[in-house]
Order: sequence, then structure tokens, then C-alpha cells
Amino acid sequence: MWKMELVPKSLPLIWGLFCLCLLSTDSAHAQQQQQQARAQAQAGGNIASPWSDDEAHSNRTLDSILVPRVVGSRGHQQVRDYLVQSLNGLGFQTEVDEFKQRVPVLGELTFGNVVGTINPRAQNFLALACHYDSKYFPNDPGFVGATDSAVPCAILLNTAKTLSSYLTKEFRNRSDVGLMLIFFDGEEAFKEWTNADSVYGSKHLASKLARTPSGVQAGGQAQLASRNIDRIEVLVLLDLIGARNPKFSSFYENTHGLHSSLVQIEKSLRAAGRLEGNNNMFLNRLSGGFVDDDHRPFLEENVPILHLVATPFPDTWHTPRDNAANLHWPSIRNFNRVFRNFVYEYLVRHTAPINLRFYRT
Ligand SMILES: *[C@@H]1O[C@H](CO)[C@@H](O)[C@H](O)[C@H]1NC(C)=O
Ligand SMILES: *[C@@H]1O[C@H](CO)[C@@H](O)[C@H](O)[C@H]1NC(C)=O
Ligand SMILES: [Zn+2]
Repeated sequence: MWKMELVPKSLPLIWGLFCLCLLSTDSAHAQQQQQQARAQAQAGGNIASPWSDDEAHSNRTLDSILVPRVVGSRGHQQVRDYLVQSLNGLGFQTEVDEFKQRVPVLGELTFGNVVGTINPRAQNFLALACHYDSKYFPNDPGFVGATDSAVPCAILLNTAKTLSSYLTKEFRNRSDVGLMLIFFDGEEAFKEWTNADSVYGSKHLASKLARTPSGVQAGGQAQLASRNIDRIEVLVLLDLIGARNPKFSSFYENTHGLHSSLVQIEKSLRAAGRLEGNNNMFLNRLSGGFVDDDHRPFLEENVPILHLVATPFPDTWHTPRDNAANLHWPSIRNFNRVFRNFVYEYLVRHTAPINLRFYRT
């Protein structure tokens, strides 16, 4: 199960983050603000290049993912193979981070995060993530988790597909930045959501990336990537997307600039008549709480997080109604449009390392 925590800012996690900020020097703080402004400029601004939809691809992709896919099941293996195949087809170098672990109720299971990378030797990465496992309900073997998280995973692949003429040509061989798509396995709890019974795949991948030396030369003064996990400039995590009228708040101060650029992009697309309906998805506000999710192990390693999770959660969340019949297609199309422009703008404007980390200078 998922957990929504609306905590006052004095509780441990949030307080921990403030402590880290206080440790930083004034100049470190000023530098971070500059970095934030740069990151925002990078991903915001005018939409020079409105990329076209490929809704047939989006639908096809979603159809392939929208099956029961509890870790260890046949559907799970099929979806994993499909993700690997799709990423390879889109020109990503793809790996499966596989491991076995004992879990409550179901015993020993084999998990596999699927990770696709373009420009794997680049100094830094923009990482986009979702989870592909579906939740195990003993009384509902047909649960497909449409918003949780089949749609977010389809959005990642559709983003790569609609930007492929850029990603496979002009973007190829860049040494300053690569693109990483992460499909986490085992996000869902098997019994009850706790730190131990949740985010199995993400814990495994974060600890692996934190243990491996980066092997890239430190570039500028802002670049201290000694471990592979330090090469992730920001982890953008999508979850619970596909229901009607979603709202996305900003959850972390250090990535608020990037969140604001989503607000800006949505605004320009709407002004240009390129969005449907009139629901503003991206709220220009810093949420007072946070949602526990796959980003936790990365956050603990000081990776900047942009968490795009709809709050309030869809009302179909963790019910049999979280299925194709209850998806809201205009909202999915709108999200795809805003998100692909965000990713494109981030990459095309990238020139030097972006450091949004809490206490690094
Ligand atoms: C995608 O699926 C939705 C829902 O079934 C449908 O409304 C839409 O027309 C489909 N788009 C394409 C291009 O097939
Ligand atoms: C990228 O670099 C490789 C090796 O140098 C080269 O073969 C390939 O053509 C380059 N790709 C593009 C799109 O420039
Ligand atoms: Zn869930």
C-alpha cells in the first residue's frame, strides 16, 4: 500500500533536509539558487518546438502494459520483456537489474528494474522513472493498476517515441548529458506499506548506483560525481497519472524551479490552444507534505527529486476500478504534451552540469 503523509515541517524527514541546508555556506546557497534558475531556464521558456502526438503508439503501449503484473507472475515477465524490447527499439541501451528477495506473503521473488540509457557515457543524466509492477491483492487477481502505474510507464515510452527524431540524432553522443528511463520493479507492498515492505526495486538500484564509482572525469567545479548515483541531476518520478483533472504540486524546494517550468510549459501550450479542457494540472505551489514512493532511496542519497504524483490520489486508487474504463484520455494527452516539451527543453538547453543537490557546492 501507498502512504500519503501530510506532515508538519518539523517532523524528521523535512527537518533533516532543512538541517542540510543550514550546513551549507552562504556562497553554496547562492550558487544553488543560480543553479536552480539555470535549471528552470533550461526547461522553461517558450515552446519553440511543439512536438506532435503519437496517440496510436501511446494506446498500443498502454494496452501492452495494462495486464495484471504482480512480481513473479507471467504478466510481469511479459511486461518486463516488452519494456526491454521497446527501449531497444527506441535506441536505448537497456539493462535489467535483477535480484531475488524474500517478501511477506509471497516468499522469494525475482525482481528486475529495467533501465534504458541514451548516451551512457555522458557525465550526467536526466532520469525519468515509474514503477511497472502491479499491486498484489489476494482477492482481486485481475487488478491492472491503470494509473498505478501503467499510464506513467506508457508516458515515459511515448515521450521517448515522440522525441525520437531528436534523441536518436542531434542528442546522440552528447557528453554533458544522457537520458535514463527507469522502470522500477516491486514498488508495491505485499502485505502492508512499511519502509521494509515497499520500493524493493528502487532500494536495490539506488544502493547499486551508490556503490559503483562513476568512472567519469569530474568536469567543472560543480561536478563531483564520484559515484554513479551522483551523475543523476534529477530523478523525475511519475505516479498515479491517468484519472480526470489531476493536480501536481511541487514537493521539494531544490527542484521547485523545474516544477515551475512545467507550470510555464502548460501555460504556453494552453495559450497556443494545444491542450484540451481547462484543468491546470501543474500548481505553482510547494506542498506542505510529501508522498512516500520509489524516490525515497534516491532522496536518501541526496539525489534531487521531482515527484509528479497526483494529489489528491485518483479515487480509483488501489481499487478494482483502477482500470482502462476509468482513465481520462484528455488528461493523459495533455500530460504527454507538457511532459515531452519539458524533457526536450531540459536536454536541448543543457550545456553544463546542473547541481541542485542540497549541500554540495
Ligand atoms: C486511444 O484510445 C482512446 C480510448 O480508447 C480513444 O479514445 C482514442 O481515439 C485512441 N486513439 C487512437 C489514435 O487510436
Ligand atoms: C555517435 O558516435 C559513434 C561513434 O563515434 C558514431 O559511429 C555514430 O555515428 C555517432 N552517432 C551520431 C548520431 O552522431
Ligand atoms: Zn499502488
